[in-house]
Amino acid sequence: MQTGRASRTALRVAMRRAAHQILDRPLILDDPVALPMLGPLFSLDRERETRPMGRAFRAFMAVRSRYAEDQLAAAAAGGVTQYVVLGAGLDTFAWRNPFPQLRIFEMDFPATQEWKRALLADAGLALPDALTFVPLDFERQTLAEGLAAAGFATSKPAFFAWLGVVPYLTLEAFRATIATIAALPAGTAVSFDYAISPETLSPERRPGFQALSERVAAAGEPFRLFLAPEELNAELSRSGFQRIEQLSSTDLNRNYLDARADGLRLPEPALFRLVTAWT
Ligand SMILES: C[S@@+](CC[C@H](N)C(=O)[O-])C[C@H]1O[C@@H](n2cnc3c(N)ncnc32)[C@H](O)[C@@H]1O
Repeated sequence: MQTGRASRTALRVAMRRAAHQILDRPLILDDPVALPMLGPLFSLDRERETRPMGRAFRAFMAVRSRYAEDQLAAAAAGGVTQYVVLGAGLDTFAWRNPFPQLRIFEMDFPATQEWKRALLADAGLALPDALTFVPLDFERQTLAEGLAAAGFATSKPAFFAWLGVVPYLTLEAFRATIATIAALPAGTAVSFDYAISPETLSPERRPGFQALSERVAAAGEPFRLFLAPEELNAELSRSGFQRIEQLSSTDLNRNYLDARADGLRLPEPALFRLVTAWT
């Protein structure tokens, strides 16, 4: 990612969630703010969205946000009152937040946050009182520094969502971030997705992976971090997480997509997995 320029991948994934609001019923992620946030930036490429890869990518974007928000709801029901969205991009949860006690912190590159502020102003969407923007580059500053600057209470548990960010980081930045989260009080959890090491993919999944890698690299945000599922478990356990859940596309299809009549599904096996780790 080039410093000083707003994230293009953030726009792409927000476009897919907005397309989901128009194209798919029932909704996996009910997000009435997705389209207004994008305003005139939104365009619907029906041809691309009906291709198998387009449908699968759109389904994954909807499923991963829904999964993280389901985990957040469980954390909030357990008394968590702090929600940190790492690499928030154009995430809209803060404008749909049903939890009155929840404080929300959105962290991202300064340039991506400035761009989001401009889109919000154009859309007439005010910043919710519960929301704090925290400008931060995970490669140059630690999560701990960002949280301290934002008035985050390190004495209380929190829920973190970190969607679509880990593949773009170095292993050092990934480790520093999970170490900070793992050191927070019991009841803290983080949900994220990660890219599976390409060499572990079946031959038929490799062309799809190659195409996606080339697209994000062309957008100036190449994938850098890949992990095998057992490596990821080892990284999280070593950091001090007590419980880890990893969901494959088979699990996600069963949990979120099996009952659909329109055939929207995630390819099995997938290029990415969803994870939640609890302190
Ligand atoms: C693919 S987008 C995902 C955005 C959002 N989480 C979502 O699901 O819509 C990746 C996001 O990570 C942010 N990002 C990537 N590397 C980062 C870094 N080193 N520091 C801060 N933010 C970063 C980008 O600015 C972008 O907003």
